[in-house]
Amino acid sequence: MKVSVIGTGYVGLVSGVCLSEKGHNVVCVDVDKEKVEKINSGIPPIYERDLEELLRKNINLNLKADTDLFKAVMETEISLISVGTPFNGDKIDLSFIEMVSGDIGKALKEKKAYHMVVVKSTVVPGTTDEVVLPILEKFSGKKAGIDFGIGMNPEFLREGEAVQDFMSPDRIVMGAIDKKALGYLEELYRPFNNVDKLRTNNKTAEMIKYTSNSLLATMISFSNEIANLCAVIGDIDVVDVMRGVHMDNRLSPIMPNGKRITPSITTYIEAGCGFGGSCFPKDVKALIAHGKQKGRPMLLLDAVIQVNQEQPLQVVDMLKKHFPSLKGIRIAILGLAFKPDTTDMRESPAIPIVKELLTQGAGIQAYDPVASAEAKKIFTDYQIQYCDTLHQTVDNVQAVVLLTRWEEFSKIPSLLADLETQPLFVDGRRMLDKELIARYEGIGL
Ligand code: UGA
Repeated sequence: MKVSVIGTGYVGLVSGVCLSEKGHNVVCVDVDKEKVEKINSGIPPIYERDLEELLRKNINLNLKADTDLFKAVMETEISLISVGTPFNGDKIDLSFIEMVSGDIGKALKEKKAYHMVVVKSTVVPGTTDEVVLPILEKFSGKKAGIDFGIGMNPEFLREGEAVQDFMSPDRIVMGAIDKKALGYLEELYRPFNNVDKLRTNNKTAEMIKYTSNSLLATMISFSNEIANLCAVIGDIDVVDVMRGVHMDNRLSPIMPNGKRITPSITTYIEAGCGFGGSCFPKDVKALIAHGKQKGRPMLLLDAVIQVNQEQPLQVVDMLKKHFPSLKGIRIAILGLAFKPDTTDMRESPAIPIVKELLTQGAGIQAYDPVASAEAKKIFTDYQIQYCDTLHQTVDNVQAVVLLTRWEEFSKIPSLLADLETQPLFVDGRRMLDKELIARYEGIGL
């Protein structure tokens, strides 16, 4: 199929590259000339495992990037909209979606053949039918369902695993206004055999995406609320509590051979210093705002956000149990990214924690295997000493605080054991074995 992908952010670029790998003929469109040039020379503007390899393999064969949206629509059969939908504090900002829809509409005006438009960006229920469709009709002077089709196809890509998630998806959700439009999505995803495909209307497809992320975020905040209660009751470790909960046959099924499988969903039912990233906080807030607008307040999701906003401060409270004043206390921060295997700092719990510690007068030395450069852009007005090695970071400090589950941090117990004086260790992710560390504190302990 001839496919245009509008927007080369992390969703757009991964989708474009992977669809070309699956045999489609793809043009990725972006207004940013520099990005387009980079892509055309085989360099992905974002880091995502395996992306560069696939991009290099397909570029200039059945993949190219261009700034010309009009031409891209004219030359392809189907356009996927994957531009950003940021949350502006009040509701999701649809201005990029609206702009691109207008531009596609202008191209459709000139186009003789039927064209299929698909929203891939995360948008609140109703956006495809009530915002994108009317704009397309207005600018093209044509009719949806007759001259062009419209659909909604959410993505379920995890950062760091995006290529793998796209190439081997757990599900494909295809929303469409009618059979003809759905037929285009069927064709697009024909190379994905043996994948469960859900065919539905656009609003339902939009809602599935929000519901999926809201459920995961709810499980995290739920686990954190339980952890905080465990901590104040005393003599309970939330890690043991959750281990007992995970053993529920419905969460970790016992197979006919008597062995248990532990699905990765259980990792969202663990205590930590809170969720972050570009999706969970933004999506949950957008759904809450949408509910409010529809006259249906989302009480549970409100609490999910509230718990998550307060959770990073649990780490500060644990430090204050040992150092009533943090003034002049030297603290090592391990992990800045919102999760391991990414440079992404967006909404990372490390941000409020580091800021609060500095405000209270602590001195900070920080280490992240890959996110320090991103962190420097965020902490511009804050004094932080960035370290190059783990060893250097934990040296000469009174406390060590772990905020991201980087694999490398499993070396910490032996590193600490070699030190002459033992710093306090605060485990913000309950990653390490408390028995292996002399002065251990953790969320939910
Ligand atoms: C999330 C969803 O997992 C994807 O399914 C979805 O497509 C994506 O948002 C999106 O909407 O684009 P992502 O933000 O990359 O993906 O991150 P996750 O790996 O799910 O992590 C999100 C938060 O959950 C992080 O703060 C992380 O610390 C926490 N988390 C993650 C856990 O608590 N446990 C885990 O096992 C994984």
